[in-house]
Amino acid sequence: MDTPSELNEVVLPQTVVGPLTRAAIFLVLCIRQDEDAYARLRAFCAGLSGLIRAVEFRDIEAGLTCIAGFGSDAWDKLFGAPRPAELHPFQEIRSGGRHAVSTPGDILFHIRAKRMDLCFELAMQIMDSLGDVVSVADEVHGFRYFDDRDVMGFVDGTENPRGDAAREAAIVGDEDPGFAGGSYVIVQKYLHDLKAWNALPVEMQERIIGRRKLSDVELSDAEKPAYAHNALTNIEENGRQLQILRDNMPFGRPGHGEFGTYFIGYSRTPRITEIMLENMFVGKPAGNYDRLLDFSRPATGSLYFVPSGTFLDNVPADVPEAAESATGASSEPPSPAPLPTPVAVQDTSLRIGSLKGE
Ligand code: HEM
Repeated sequence: MDTPSELNEVVLPQTVVGPLTRAAIFLVLCIRQDEDAYARLRAFCAGLSGLIRAVEFRDIEAGLTCIAGFGSDAWDKLFGAPRPAELHPFQEIRSGGRHAVSTPGDILFHIRAKRMDLCFELAMQIMDSLGDVVSVADEVHGFRYFDDRDVMGFVDGTENPRGDAAREAAIVGDEDPGFAGGSYVIVQKYLHDLKAWNALPVEMQERIIGRRKLSDVELSDAEKPAYAHNALTNIEENGRQLQILRDNMPFGRPGHGEFGTYFIGYSRTPRITEIMLENMFVGKPAGNYDRLLDFSRPATGSLYFVPSGTFLDNVPADVPEAAESATGASSEPPSPAPLPTPVAVQDTSLRIGSLKGE
């Protein structure tokens, strides 16, 4: 399928970079394995922005946004070639008793708004429109807790990049021109042992996170242990910090003793989040792992590519060649989709050079 940059079109990212919201829904779906399902999904993709606008406009102030990401297998079957350079399935990590699991997921919807009812309405409209072509692998309704804290009591999100720095961290640029304006996203649903965590002295909790609990002030280098969460997730390359854009959300069911953090990290290359995970689960050096994991375990883990909004709007209904062979569909020649009128090429690169390593 032609990518927007091949069509010389203005490329608009999906709303990856936005303000933190009070509410979010994370929907992970698996697609039914037949060509009819893929065809219906392609039609859905082209109509998604219209669906979002319809719900968003019911309260424009509430800032409803929705991001759709696609897993590695689903990408081939839905869109065929070319594919985003670094799209691959989430790699599980095992070390000591720690396990970053890799779980199924073809599509991720990350729906955010100031009001949960808008998130709920959009999730309902999406599921209504997809019908039986998908099954639900996971659904989490997240809420913003006091002072932007996680359920473990610490402020979460402080060191997130903002503004231009957020775009630079999260949005693909010149390094993969066909997919500029896209983003990679990794999600993990963590469950916490809050009883054990709350039994720890606050000073110990602060050493594990690397920040003061009440004031959120970062521990000094002298106070901060090498295993602190914010030491292991602080990645530098050639003297420059490599960042990701997080929008973690607490969730839970107190009646069921369930307390969690839904981790979501956007990045222009999945490699940065993967290094962070390696540092947390294996340790840096090995064995110096993240003590948060003594009190938290991920129940899910998956990776998606979030194409630009322009790409989604232009998904043709016909079967891309590579997708045909992936689904075993008939080899009728696809009728070419009408090309959008070329406008101007917008260079979404921030000209910071490639973040890709060796
Ligand atoms: C159990 C789930 C998690 C919890 C409760 C959690 C909580 C926190 C908290 C409280 C902070 C300090 C405040 C801030 O700067 O945001 C933080 C920082 C951070 N976390 Fe996490 N986090 C979790 C999982 C992860 C994962 C899986 C990653 C990446 C793979 C990650 C990446 C980061 C980064 C990059 C920072 C900023 C580090 C810096 O100061 O430069 N976190 N997290």
